[in-house]
Amino acid sequence: MLRDAEVLSLLTSRRPNHSLPRAFYTDPDVFQVDLERIWYRSWLFAAALCELPKAGSYVVYAVGLSSVLIVRGNDGVVRAFHNTCRHRGSALCRSAKGTNPKIVCPYHQWTYELDGQLFWAKDMGSDFDRSRHGLKPVHCREIAGLIYICLAEDAPPFDAFAEQAARYLAPHDLVNSKVAHESTIIEHGNWKLVWENNRECYHCSGNHPSLCRTFPEDPKLFGGSSESGSSAALDQHVARCEAVGAASAFRIDPQGDWRFVRMPLLGAAESYTMDGKAAVAKPNSSFPFKTAGALLKFSYPSTWNHFLADHAIVFRVTPISATETEVCTKWLVHKDAEEGRDYDLTRLIEVWAATNDEDRVVVENNQRGILSPGYEPGPYSALQEGGVIQFVDWYAETLARSLTGRELVAAE
Ligand code: FES
Ligand SMILES: [Fe+2]
Repeated sequence: MLRDAEVLSLLTSRRPNHSLPRAFYTDPDVFQVDLERIWYRSWLFAAALCELPKAGSYVVYAVGLSSVLIVRGNDGVVRAFHNTCRHRGSALCRSAKGTNPKIVCPYHQWTYELDGQLFWAKDMGSDFDRSRHGLKPVHCREIAGLIYICLAEDAPPFDAFAEQAARYLAPHDLVNSKVAHESTIIEHGNWKLVWENNRECYHCSGNHPSLCRTFPEDPKLFGGSSESGSSAALDQHVARCEAVGAASAFRIDPQGDWRFVRMPLLGAAESYTMDGKAAVAKPNSSFPFKTAGALLKFSYPSTWNHFLADHAIVFRVTPISATETEVCTKWLVHKDAEEGRDYDLTRLIEVWAATNDEDRVVVENNQRGILSPGYEPGPYSALQEGGVIQFVDWYAETLARSLTGRELVAAE
């Protein structure tokens, strides 16, 4: 059984710039350590704010053993609670989303206000103190139209991310958006393989025919590694977007937790569509031109996003087991955009629906090969896979810092 000390020793023995030893992708104990040391301690993207349009709107987000109830109060404030009744612990909300004027436990009907206070509990006696049995809060922040939660008792600092997210997302009106479509798939692969695949486009030409019509494969445009070098095309695009007030320059957190960059799409493409033209006639951004490219954002360990001039796509990654990961994708359009008039749903989603499925296939093949006894960690391409190296280094450093309280010195 691999626990903290063994995981640390495996981490320190890993070869830099190589894929990880097998256990990191396959072992249930490493998975448990990942949950405890990363997922239960990090800020996690849970939902878009526009999914909670009115008082009583809620969504439930489950990660590991935790189920979190995120609900908008009568005062408009969005709060998160453990989805666990303070009577005998029943799960409170069993559906993934909905609207309730109060939160009523399905077991014995203890009833909570939307701000978590216990409002009513039958026959608990005259000395029962309702004020001591409110729902347990979970850290919750609403940032530029996105809701993040953190399960840790003491949440890590998040202000620097929040400040940059507000700057970069300013042209994108996520608050006045709606979910045009949502897809949830389970990939039979470890969550880190899902991320590794996301952080490179080395695999794009061989796997993503529809995405490659508009998505540039050149890692200089988005890779974020010093080896990738700089790009005149990116510099020009950033200058053009910044001239209209849209923060766009490549920016990565010093600890590697998050990154923003607004990259150009191929040719004069406006959006991720088969013909490159905008998918939505009523855009949810304020750009004065359609060729604003894609603002690429990630914040580890739970989300990557693409913000286009006409719509936005948010992806949420949730680990299920050592070899299973949920990927939930939401296409956000302006709240007044009408299907059939302002957008055609098939056209809006076809490129990323296909791309997600193609990514599922490559991740599952990757997992299968790693499970084979013939697997040995292999070298990343510094030119093409700088983003993967950044992710794996972030993972190793974050885990080591949590296990030891200090930085890891990688083996040479
Ligand atoms: S467990 Fe919720 S009311 Fe009894
Ligand atoms: Fe891909």
